[in-house]
This record gives sequence, C-alpha cells and structure tokens, in this order.
Amino acid sequence: MSTALVILAAGMGTRMNSDLPKVLHQIAGAPMLAHAMLSGLSLEPSRIIVVAGHGADQVAAAAEEVMPFAQIVLQEEQNGTAHAVDQAREALADFDGDVIVLYGDTPFIRPETLEAMKTARARHDVVVLGFEAADPGRYGRLVMDGQRLDRIVEFKDASEEERKITLCNSGLICADRSVLFDLIAAVGNDNAAGEYYLTDIVGLARARGLSAGAVTCDEAETMGINSRSELAGAEAAFQARARAQALEDGVTLTAPETVHFAFDTIIGRDTVIEPNVVFGPNVTVESGARIRAFSHLEGCHVSRGGIIGPYARLRPGAELAEDVHVGNFVEVKNARVDRAAKINHLTYIGDAEIGEETNIGAGTITCNYDGVFKHKTRIGARAFIGSSTMLVAPVSIGDEAMTGSGSVITKDVEPGALAIARARQETKPGMARKLMEMLRLKKARKAETE
Ligand code: UD1
Ligand code: MG
Repeated sequence: MSTALVILAAGMGTRMNSDLPKVLHQIAGAPMLAHAMLSGLSLEPSRIIVVAGHGADQVAAAAEEVMPFAQIVLQEEQNGTAHAVDQAREALADFDGDVIVLYGDTPFIRPETLEAMKTARARHDVVVLGFEAADPGRYGRLVMDGQRLDRIVEFKDASEEERKITLCNSGLICADRSVLFDLIAAVGNDNAAGEYYLTDIVGLARARGLSAGAVTCDEAETMGINSRSELAGAEAAFQARARAQALEDGVTLTAPETVHFAFDTIIGRDTVIEPNVVFGPNVTVESGARIRAFSHLEGCHVSRGGIIGPYARLRPGAELAEDVHVGNFVEVKNARVDRAAKINHLTYIGDAEIGEETNIGAGTITCNYDGVFKHKTRIGARAFIGSSTMLVAPVSIGDEAMTGSGSVITKDVEPGALAIARARQETKPGMARKLMEMLRLKKARKAETE
C-alpha cells in the first residue's frame, strides 16, 4: 500500500517573533520542516506534499532542498487544518493509497510511530495519533468509545467534562486518500474558531459508519514548537537523545552535555569525543578516532585513527584519510588529506590535496583566494613544508620535496627538491647593542628638555 505525506507548514508562527517562517527555524542544524519530512521518509512515501503559506517561497526552497521530489501547494489564507489539507486535493487526485498528515512544526515523530499508524489502518478507516498529556492545556481531546475513537473535540469547543480528558490529539491523521478528501469536503467551520478543523473528520467518519481509532505515542514525540523557548527546549531534547544514542553506539563522550550533534552526525564505535565539540551538518567520523576538546566540524569526514584538535576547525569538503592528525588552531576546508599526514599547528589548508605522511609545519597557509577565484594547492607524499610557508596557489609541491621556513612559494617545486623563497639573512655584529644605546640616549635627552 503506497503512502503520501501531507505536511502542514502554512502557519505564521506569530509567537516566534521572527521574519523567518516558523518551520524554517533550525534544530540540530536542519529546519524543523526537514525533521518532519525525514521522519516520514521511513514509510517510503511515493508522494510528499508540503502545504506552504506564510513565507511560501522560502518554505518551498527549503523543502525542495531536503527532498527534490517534494511538491509544494499553496494555502493563501489559513482557514484551518482541514482547509490546509484540502489544498493537496488536486495534487493527490491520481494517487491511490494512504495519506498521512504531519505538521511541519512537530519534528520529533519517530518512524516506529508512523509504522504503527499504518498498521492500525488495517483495523480502522481513520487513524489518529494521540498521547497522554501531562498538562492537556489547549490540545484537542480524543473522545473514546471503548477501543474506538468517537470524535475529537477542540479545547475551545469542549465542555467542562471533555476538558478533563487527558488523551490528546497530536494532529497526525492517516486515512485512505479518497476517504480523507470526501470527509474533508463535508467539514464546516461552525465552531468557536470559525475554522475548518481537520479533527472533525473523525465524527463525520463515524456518522457514515466508518471506523476510527487512535494510536498513542510518548508525549515527547509530539512536542510542537511555537516559541523561541520551545525551540530551545526542542534543541535540548534532540541533543539529549543524540548523546544517549552515541553512548549506546559505543562512542565515548567524556562530557556528554557539552557535545552538540547535528541531525545527521555519524560517529563510529570506539571514537572518543572530548568536551565542547560541535558538529555541524554532514559529518562522519569513523571508528577509533579522537576528536579533542573545543573542535568544530562540519561537512567533513574523519577516518579511522584520526586525531583532531584541540581547537581544530574542519569545514565542508575536508576529507581526511586514516591516521591523519590535525592539531590546534588549524582550519581545513575542501581538502583531501592522505594517510598519516600531519597538520599540527596554526595552519590554514583550503582547496588542497596533501599526500600521505606529509608534514605541514606550523603557521602554513595555502593562499587559495585571489579575491575573485579559488586556486588549488597540491602537495605530494612525504613532503615537508617548513613552518610559516605561504603556498600561493595554484602551486604544486612534489613528493618528498621540502620548503624552507618562512618561504613564499609561488612556483611549482619538483619531487625531492628543496625550495627556499625568503630574503637571505644578514648579521651585523654588535649592532643591536649600539642601536639600543642610541635609543636610550635619545629618550634621556627628550626627558631633559621637557
Ligand atoms: C491542532 C489540532 C488539535 C491538536 C493540536 C496539536 C485542529 C483543528 N486542531 O490545534 O486538535 O491537539 O493541533 O498540536 O486540527 N496550519 C496550516 N494552515 C492552517 C492552519 C494550520 O498550515 O490553516 C498548520 C500550522 O502551521 C501548524 C499545524 O497546521 O503547523 C497545526 O495548526 P495549529 O493552528 O497550531 O493548530 P492547533 O490549534 O494547535
Ligand atoms: Mg498548534
């Protein structure tokens, strides 16, 4: 049975107090919309429809970046959740199968929960995801009739008795496409909010002799985000889970609460992560590596046995082979570094290739940018780059070649050669003392005349 996802993301998110559409605010380096979309991916949906409204262009661009096959439909006025889903009617006209409605601002639904909803569809025409709320507040309430779901009542429209119900509506609903849109067509807006409630389809389904049921999940999964403080809470919840998962997976975190993961960080077994390490998106670290304190990694790959940091920065395109060492105050961007090469101190390596076992001396800089274009630096295997070498790209250094400290290298260096490109030293005996005497005398005279 194929599945289509409809993700509601048209709301303004007034309480975020932001120019950015709410669903584009980030958790662990990805917009909350991306989290919602990715959680639905486990169902291998054949269609993904995102309903955009406020900031639709930005929302569409973000959705397409996550999944190029996502389709965007526009809800110009936000007249309620049923009205929002109805915007996908045409896009799904030729689709056969189940539709699952997700919210773009509810990023933590687990794949297992979506699976459970799909499974429950074998027993019910309409399946709603509910949860036992510690504080039911203003959530819609699930009114049960034994094992069956009778209807959902919105808080605003609920009686005193109904408000005492603690089983709440997460907002997620699953039904066959044609059933869903038939029911939505019958939804009216005669209620406290004057909106078309998606939740009304449950009562409508029952009135037509169809069956409805509820699947429940942990409240933490249905956490919705409406304010910056809830966004910070969601980030904390994500990080707590990611840290626990890393520990479970055999990664050592010496101070787990200080390590920040991205939504897609992958760390191998027996890797050690020291305190205060930050992972941006798209990082993989293989087994048995050590990421030392205060390092920042994004868009990079660290292979087995690598030692990174302390205070290292790996930027997008840093591809490090086995046993590479990158030390303190070193930045590596868009560079391939081969096995056992060492870049240990105060260095910038950008747009480069470095061969195996090469040693890059302290303070080396690949001068890759001329103000308009970026140029490449190629360094061979077992080369030795002297401290404070400026490698003015494009430039190549051969295998087993050396550069003298302080050189400004502007021409290619052949394999095995030593290149020195700096002014020759001149030493003047006694000159330093003479110079100091002269300066002190000058200072004394100045003090006399004042
Ligand atoms: C909704 C449910 C409520 C549930 C709660 C869970 C309805 C009528 N009520 O209430 O039972 O307990 O979520 O959080 O469905 N949206 C649109 N277009 C619209 C309206 C909403 O895209 O016209 C989007 C919003 O951006 C949001 C989601 O749908 O992502 C839910 O809308 P919201 O207004 O937050 O609904 P609630 O009143 O919280
Ligand atoms: Mg809400």
